[in-house]
Amino acid sequence: MATDVKKETGIEFSQDLLDHIEQWREKPGNLIMILHRVQQEFGYIPREAAKKVAKLLNVPLAKIYGVITFYHYFKLTKPGKYNIQVCMGTACYLKGGEDILEELEKILGIGVNQVTDDGQFSIEAVRCVGACGLAPVTIVGEDVFGKLTKDRLPEILSKFQDK
Ligand code: FES
Repeated sequence: MATDVKKETGIEFSQDLLDHIEQWREKPGNLIMILHRVQQEFGYIPREAAKKVAKLLNVPLAKIYGVITFYHYFKLTKPGKYNIQVCMGTACYLKGGEDILEELEKILGIGVNQVTDDGQFSIEAVRCVGACGLAPVTIVGEDVFGKLTKDRLPEILSKFQDK
């Protein structure tokens, strides 16, 4: 069955992901758990992946999109190679998180939830990332930058820019 679904949807899931889907197939809350794992595998939820999950679980595609659009956590567009998460939690906001966000938008020429033309960076505004003592906090890829000031941004971005 998996092979037929692959042919129809044109996207391949890892065996790990297929096993995860099997494991959650009949359990309550399974859509969230499965889509979470899809996003881990692709970095977002590609449309073809949503279609494939719908077919594998035999649920309407609209139901899948209902879940994806309800939870901000799920992304519908492919993030940049380095996703930049600017914390907009209360502590960070009060310490200038918005300035960081505006400066990033200015430097990269993109807005929140957009990707630079070269696919290198995307910007995301996120809720508290749990490091309030370091406010304002921004995470670039996997690296956390605390007590950030906007004048440090060009130097930080240049470290992540492919030469
Ligand atoms: S508010 Fe930004 S880390 Fe908590």
